[in-house]
Order: sequence, then C-alpha cells, then structure tokens
Amino acid sequence: TPLDKIRNFSIIAHIDHGKSTLADRLIQTTGGLAAREMSAQVLDNMEIEKERGITIKAQTVRLEWKGHILNLMDTPGHVDFAYEVSRSLAACEGALLVVDAAQGVEAQTLANVYQSIEHDHEIIPVINKIDLPSAEPEKVRHEIEEIIGIDASNAVLSSAKSGIGIEEILDAVVERIPAPKGDKDAPLKAMLVDSWYDPYLGVVILVRVIDGMIRKGQQIKFMAAGTTHLIDRVGAFRPKIEQLPDLGPGEIGFITAQIKEVAQARVGDTLTDAKRPTPEPLPGFKEVQPVVFCGLFPVDAADFEKLRESISKLRLNDASFSFEMETSAALGFGFRCGFLGLLHLEIIQERLMREYDLDLITTAPSVVYQIELTHGAGHIDLHNPADMPEPNRIESIAEPWIQAVIYVPDEYLGSILKLCQDRRGIQKNLTYVGGRAQATYELPLNEVVFDFYDRLKSLSKGYASFDYEQIGYREGDLVKMGILVNEEPVDALSMIVHRGTAEVRGRGMVERLKELIPRHMFKIPIQAAIGGKVIARETISAMRKDVTAKCYGGDATRKRKLLDKQKKGKAKMREYGSVSIPQEAFIAALRMG
Ligand code: GTP
Repeated sequence: TPLDKIRNFSIIAHIDHGKSTLADRLIQTTGGLAAREMSAQVLDNMEIEKERGITIKAQTVRLEWKGHILNLMDTPGHVDFAYEVSRSLAACEGALLVVDAAQGVEAQTLANVYQSIEHDHEIIPVINKIDLPSAEPEKVRHEIEEIIGIDASNAVLSSAKSGIGIEEILDAVVERIPAPKGDKDAPLKAMLVDSWYDPYLGVVILVRVIDGMIRKGQQIKFMAAGTTHLIDRVGAFRPKIEQLPDLGPGEIGFITAQIKEVAQARVGDTLTDAKRPTPEPLPGFKEVQPVVFCGLFPVDAADFEKLRESISKLRLNDASFSFEMETSAALGFGFRCGFLGLLHLEIIQERLMREYDLDLITTAPSVVYQIELTHGAGHIDLHNPADMPEPNRIESIAEPWIQAVIYVPDEYLGSILKLCQDRRGIQKNLTYVGGRAQATYELPLNEVVFDFYDRLKSLSKGYASFDYEQIGYREGDLVKMGILVNEEPVDALSMIVHRGTAEVRGRGMVERLKELIPRHMFKIPIQAAIGGKVIARETISAMRKDVTAKCYGGDATRKRKLLDKQKKGKAKMREYGSVSIPQEAFIAALRMG
C-alpha cells in the first residue's frame, strides 16, 4: 500500500467513555463485519475484559474507507499497562480523543493525551454520547481546550450508541491524520507492538513496519532478544484474520514465526532482516518489571499441581507477570507472583479462580524494597516480607514512590486530602480546573497497593479519578510487622510498614481478625508485633458449649446437615497450630478499614 493511503491511529478514552462501542461502530461502518456478526464489542475479546469493561491487550483492526487503509489500534486503558500503551502510541500518527459529553475530561485521559502529544500525534477530539439527556457538548468542548490545551473547535460530536457522527470521524481520520513515512528499500525495521498466545496460531506478534518489507518465509531477527525466527504467516485483522503476502512501511499487521512463548516476543523490541539488518534498533525498548508481588496458595493443598499448570498457561500469554515457587510454613506450597499493578494482580487472580476453578489464598500485596545490608554485605531486592533480614543486618531500606494526579469534585476534596495525608503523601500541587480540584501528590507505592483506589472511589462516591507514575526509590523507616494467632506467627499476614503508621495498621489488622476468626473451645490471643515487641493485641474468647448439642439436640437430620455444612466449610479453612482461619479472613484482613 502506498504511504499516502495509510492512516494509523489509536483511541484515547477514559474507562466507560465509549471507546469499544465506537471502535465497533467504525468496524461496522467500514464494512469489516456485517451487522449480524457484531457481537458486543469485538475488540475486547477476553471474557473478563467484557465483564469488567476493561481492555487489557492491545488489538488492532485494518479498516478500509474511501480508498484508504485505516489501522485502528486499541490500547489498554489502565495505568498498570502504561508501557504497552506507549508502544501502541509510538506505532501511530494520530489519535481520537473520546470524551464523554456528560462526564467531561478525566485524569486518566490526560496522562494518555500528553503521551500522545509527546509522540507528535495529530489529535482529533470526539465528544461522544451526545444522545444522553445530560450531555453538555459545549461545556466539554471548553473543558478540552481549558484542561488539555488543544483546539477543540473542530471536535466531532458523536453517539457511538446511536451511530451519529461515525462517518465524520472516519473522514477526519483521512483528512487530518498525517500519513506515515518510511523507505521500502531500506533494511527491515519494525516495532513489536504486542504479542499474545493463540491456541491455533501459537504466539501472534503485532508489528508496525517502519522501513523495508516483511514477508512470509523471511528470516528475521529480534534485536533486543537476539533471536532469529522464520516467518510463516503475515496478515492483518479486519477484524477477521486475513493473510497477506507482505507488509510495507507504515503498515500495521501481524506475523507468526513458530514462537512458543510470549516471553520471547517482548513489546518494544525491534524486528529486522537477519541477513540484511538495520544498523540501529528503534529507541524506547524497555523491559517491563513487575512492581507488586504477592503469594498465591491453593486453599486445598492437593490443588498445587493444578495451580502450577494454570499459572504456567496464563504466563504463556502474559510475559509481564512472573512467578516462582514459594513455601510458607502456614500455607504450604504456592507461588510468589509479580504483577504490573494491583489491577493486573486482580485480573490474574480472578482468571485463576474462574477459568481454572481454583480456590486461592492471596497474601498481602507487597512492593519491591531495596535493602542495603550492614558491613558491606551487599544489596537485596526484597519481594516477600517473609524474607526480610534481621534488623541488625539492615543498613537501610528504600521503597518505591509514585507521583499521583487526582481529580476530584470540590465537595470531596477534604476527605481525599486526608486520605493522601494518612498514606504519607506529600502534596506537590493543588489547582482548580472547571469546578474540580486537581491534586498532585507524591506517595509511597506501598501505601497505595492495598486499597487506595477503593478508598478514593468510596470517599468520592466514584467521582475521583487517579493516575500515577513511578518516580524512583527513597529511603524510609520501614519495619516488618508480624501477626501472631495463638502465639503462632502467620507469615502470610506479615507485611512491611512504615514505623509511623505501624501501630494504626497493626491495631486495624488484629481488630479485623478478631471479627473474622471463629471462636474456638479455647481463648485465642491475636497480636501484631515488630520484632519481639507487641504493638497491638486482641483476644477471642472461648466458646462456652457445644453449639450443635444445644440448638439441635433432638433433631438428628438437621444436626447432620449442620455438621455436613461445617465439614464443607472446613475445606476452606487453614489450620494454624490448633486454630482454624477461614479463607475469607485473609482477604478481608488485608483490606484496610
Ligand atoms: P473500557 O473498555 O472500559 O475502556 O470502556 P470503553 O471506553 O470502551 O467504553 P464502552 O464502549 O464499553 O462504553 C461504556 C458504556 O457507555 C457502555 O454501557 C456503552 O453502551 C455506553 N456508550 C458508549 N457510547 C455511547 C453513546 O454514544 N451514548 C450512550 N448513551 N452510551 C454510550
């Protein structure tokens, strides 16, 4: 395809502003799929994505409109997947900025818009959902100019739901977004935009060709990975798979090359011809590192092998999460897993439970701490609170910090500022834009990984939005807080906390555990401790009599039913010495009040 007939663009939108609905409309209008084939939201192709309405994996479709090829790239809409977003943006020349006509501009959108501007994109504002009675397109147009600072006088007004403005959007893409540049005679240079595992095709790689040609039968080299592969398929999604003889400069499409694991095809890598390589790889390759770690253990120890298999399968399709075996005195065999963020963690955990039907215990999420040991004994990256060295071996500990931008309507500002304060936040900026406050805070990531987002949403009745980026490590006065149930340490509940907030955390934890652990025939002390020093304590009093005997003494069937029920419940319990802790207690205890 000649360069001047190609347009590459992505859609930037805050969650729920209508990105997927609009993408589906664009596909439908350009004839990619007949109306009857349009199942809801073609681009969000995983079950969980559908249910949560979150786009996880970048996907792309090739559309044809008035003699042009339009490549629409769908990007993940969450901060956890920021690097994938940045690579998708690097593969495009423009973007549609979709803003909900009733909701207005949100913080998450801002971050992506600025990234898009950094990539020199032509941005076409689209004010969507104008069919809503509460739509205020003029106000939103003003907000786009005011808050984002781009011209919105020629914004397209649309309703992805009712099909208004769709052709105008396609025309605007052709007219306003610049055609890609590239040299088809130069050595091959292509960016690996995304990769995923397909049960029929193996690993599928999405590429954007910069220079040269990529074709079936070609021997290619991945420059960062240093591996070579023989291409066996080249094609595009329209959105159905279509094989093509080749892809030239400016084009976006997929290849397969008999690759077994996505870990071998890393996002951001440069592909080149093995025999005639390009001298320089593309800039911006970055190896993504997991930032949040937790332990995953089967509730039923017999499920360990099943868990191993399921995790390995998931990993085939997601190179950004890591796992290694872990043993815990209390929980037995499991895995220590690393994720890009909390949402990523929840997605994997949910898939394991739902798709693989596993009952899991998740330990407290933890960030990676950098520990300097005394006497020049070196440095460790701590992924698991259980591995924390004794205090006398620690010279210093550093923790990761983030810079967060929070948008919140004025009426909820007070409680949000307090939340940030309680989480050791440092206020950097506070301004007002269009009746909303924009607060910029530096926060320790450790204080955010538990439930910050949930708290933010509940304190603001869902109106606050939040975006963050990592800003490096800082030293902190951090200690390991252990939890003892009936004098036995429960390692799955131990966590690293700041000394200043340890007591509040410890108190909250033992109070919740007191509510969550059922009474036993004996008294159970629950303690939070730092080193040997107890900082909080509660006691569960002993049960007085056999409950079943008392309530159901005469009725044998009811009694049996009750005992059966208890037995079933038992399967979900963990024994600590002589104490049983229900699985829910772990999860609930880890949520801070
Ligand atoms: P994520 O995939 O989570 O990023 O969301 P999204 O931006 O893709 O939003 P999606 O397309 O899933 O739309 C969110 C909700 O808004 C859905 O319930 C849509 O039906 C609805 N919606 C999308 N476009 C319109 C529109 O033009 N008008 C109205 N009234 N509703 C719309």
